[in-house]
Amino acid sequence: MQKSGKTLTDDQVSARVEAILAGMSLEEKIGQLNQIGGAEWSQGPKPEEVIRRGGAGSVLWLNDTRKFNALQKIAVEESPSKIPLLFALDVIHGYRTIFPVPLAMASSWDPDVAERAQAVAAKEARAAGLHWTFGPMLDIARDARWGRIVEGAGEDPYLGAAMARAQVRGFQGETLGETDRLVACAKHFAGYGAADGGRDYDPVYLSETQLRNVIFPPFQAAVKAGVGTFMSAYMDLNNVPASGNHWLLRDVLRGEWGFEGFVVSDAMAVANLVIQGHARDARDAAFRGLYAGVDMDMASHTYSNHLAGLVKDGTLDPAIIDASVRSILAIKVRMGLFENPYVDETLLEKVAALPEHRQEARRAAQRSMVLLRNEGGLLPLAKTLRRVAVIGPLADSMEATEGSWLVFGHKPAAVTVLQGIRARLPQAQVSYAPGPDIRRDLGNMFEDWMNEGKTPPQTPEESDAAFEHAVDVARGAEVVVMVLGEKANMAGEFASRASLDLPGRQEELLKAVVALGKPVVLVLLNGRPLSIPWAAENVPAILEAWEPGSEGGTAVADILFGDANPGGKLPATFPRKSSHSPLYYARTLTHLPESSPNYRSRYWDGLPTPVYPFGYGLSYTTFAFSNLKVSAAEVKLGASLEVSVDVTNTGKLAGDEVAQLYIHQRAGLDSRPMRELKGFRRITLQPGETQTVTFTLGPEELGYWSTNAGKWVQEAEAFDVWVGGDSTASLHAEFNVVR
Ligand code: BGC
Repeated sequence: MQKSGKTLTDDQVSARVEAILAGMSLEEKIGQLNQIGGAEWSQGPKPEEVIRRGGAGSVLWLNDTRKFNALQKIAVEESPSKIPLLFALDVIHGYRTIFPVPLAMASSWDPDVAERAQAVAAKEARAAGLHWTFGPMLDIARDARWGRIVEGAGEDPYLGAAMARAQVRGFQGETLGETDRLVACAKHFAGYGAADGGRDYDPVYLSETQLRNVIFPPFQAAVKAGVGTFMSAYMDLNNVPASGNHWLLRDVLRGEWGFEGFVVSDAMAVANLVIQGHARDARDAAFRGLYAGVDMDMASHTYSNHLAGLVKDGTLDPAIIDASVRSILAIKVRMGLFENPYVDETLLEKVAALPEHRQEARRAAQRSMVLLRNEGGLLPLAKTLRRVAVIGPLADSMEATEGSWLVFGHKPAAVTVLQGIRARLPQAQVSYAPGPDIRRDLGNMFEDWMNEGKTPPQTPEESDAAFEHAVDVARGAEVVVMVLGEKANMAGEFASRASLDLPGRQEELLKAVVALGKPVVLVLLNGRPLSIPWAAENVPAILEAWEPGSEGGTAVADILFGDANPGGKLPATFPRKSSHSPLYYARTLTHLPESSPNYRSRYWDGLPTPVYPFGYGLSYTTFAFSNLKVSAAEVKLGASLEVSVDVTNTGKLAGDEVAQLYIHQRAGLDSRPMRELKGFRRITLQPGETQTVTFTLGPEELGYWSTNAGKWVQEAEAFDVWVGGDSTASLHAEFNVVR
C-alpha cells in the first residue's frame, strides 16, 4: 500500500496549525474539542448538522465507510474552516481479522506478536476509513474479578510496558503520516484497573508509590514510543476524578513526561464529574475537565454546551482552548488528513482478512496459548484417534473464540475449537455436545442497548437433558476435549464478577466427564484468570487458550495435535479462590518469610498460594536453566551490569522458553517487593541446544519511586537476582550496588 512518505518537521506542523487556528472562530475551536457519537443511540443533535457548523472535531461509534466519506465531505466542503474529522473506534484486537485478546497477546511474552497484530488491525481499520483507535489499554490489573483485565497485559508493569511500546508501534508505525496505520490512544489514565473489589467503575485508592512504580510504567512507555493520544479514566482516583485530575493530566503526563498529543475523556466522563460530586453542574464540569487537561470531550456535549459561555463571562481563559485545539489540529496535520481526508471505498475488501492476515492471527494465537498441565504427556494427541468427543458450551462458539470488544457491526467468522479439531482429524468421528448453557446472572448494558443476547434461559429440565447428553457423548470417545470458560460478554467492560469459578454447571460437567475414566483435555476460553483448583489436580491436560481470535480453533488444534508447541506464560496470577483477589507475585513481606518452616498462612481456611503463578507455562519439551552469572559482584550507582544464564532444551522436541529475570532489593528507604520482573526473552531451542541469554540491569531497573524520599531513588544496597521459567524461579545470584 502507498505510504504518505512525507514526514513533516515540528516547525512545519506548528506553522500549519497556527495558520488554521488564526482563521477559526471561538465556536469552531470549541467544535474541535467535541467528539460526537455516530451511532443511532448516541445523544445529541444529528451529526450532519453539528459537523456543518464546525461543531465537531471527531466522530466515534460509527463503522461505516461510506458514511465516513459523506460526513467528511460535509466537514471539508461545508464547515467554516473546512477541517477534516478524525474517525475513532475501539479497535482493540483486530478489525476484520480478529487477534487474541490483549491479555492473551501478553501471554506470548513476545512483544513482536502484539506489534504485528496491531499493525494488521490498523491496516484493516484504516482501509475502512478509521483514523484513530482507543487502544492500547494499559491498565495494570491485579484483581481478576475486574472484567477489563482482558483488555490489558495483566498484573506486571515491566511486561505491561513492553506490550505498550509494541502496540503503539503496531498501531501507529514509525510516524503518524503512514496511510495504513492509526493514531493510538493510551487508556485509561490512570488507575482504573485497581477498582475497589474489582467492581467496574468503583473508586480507586492508590498511593503515589503504587501509581509510579506499578500503574504508570506502561503509560510512560507509550509516551516514549510516541503515542498520539491519551484517554482519561472514568473513576475517582484518591477521591479526585481521573477526568478532572490536573495532577495526572497536566503535572505528570505533560509536565514530567513531555506528552505533546491530546487527551480525550472516556465516554461521558466530563459530564460524570457532576455525578461524582466534583462539579456543581455541567458548566462547572466543562471548566474543570478542560482546566484539568482533558482536551476533547467524548460524547457528553458538555464542552460544546458550556465552554463559550465560560469564555464570554471571563471565567475561562481562551488560551486554554487554543492550546487544546492546537494539539488536536497537530495530529490531523501529521496524519495528512488535510491532503487526504477521504478513504477509497473499495480498499477495505482488498485488504481485510487477507490470507496473510489470517496466518498472522493463527501464529499470534499459537504463541499466546499457555499449557497449564500435561500429566503423563497426554498432549500432544495422536492424529490417528478415531473417536473424539468435543464437549462444552464454548466448543462451537465463534463469539467466545473471537472474544470481547469487537468493532460495531462485526460478523463473527472464527474457526471454533470444534471446527479446528474436525479439520485436523478428517478420518475420525468427532462428536459434539454443548452441555448446559452458561449466561450472566445480570445483563450487560451494551447488549441491552444493542438489543443482543436476548435468548431465553434454559429451563432446569433442558439444562439437565443437555448435561446428560454431553456425558453420553463423552462416554463413546477415546479422548474427550472439554471446551469451557467464559462467554465473550463475561469479561470486558461492565463484566466484573464476584466469582472466578467456571460459570454455570461447567465444573459439575467436567467432574462427571472425568469420572468416566477417559483421558480428558481441558481447553479454556476465557478473558481473565479463573480459579480452577479442582481441574488443576484432576484433569490431566489443561490448555489456556484465552479468547484466541479468528484462527483460534485452528491454533488450538495446532497445539493439541503437536503441530505447534506451546510456549506462552501467564501474565497474571491464577488464584485458588476468587476471594484471594487481588493476588499478585510482586508483594512486599511482613513477618516470617514464606520459606520459613514457621510461616503461617494469611488465611486459616486455606493457603492463598496461587494455583498457577505469574509467568507460568509448560511446553511439550523441558528446559533447564544453569550457569547464572552477574558480570560484577559490585556495580556503582548509575552504572549497569549484565546477568547471563544458559537455557538448555533438555527434551526431545523443539520448543520455546521464556527466560524471566526477577530482582529483589534487600533493604532500603522503602520495603521492596519480594520479586520484580526486570527482564524477559522468549527463545526457541532445538532438542539439546543451549543458548546464553544476557540481560542488562541499569539505573532504570534498579531504581524505584520511594515513599520516604518522595522521589525516584537508586540506592547502594544488596540485591538478589533469579532467572528461570516463571516467577518462582530458584536459580539465584546476588550483587551489590555501591557508591
Ligand atoms: C470505555 C472506553 C472506550 C469508550 C469508547 C468507554 O465506555 O471505557 O474504553 O474507549 O467507551 O467506546
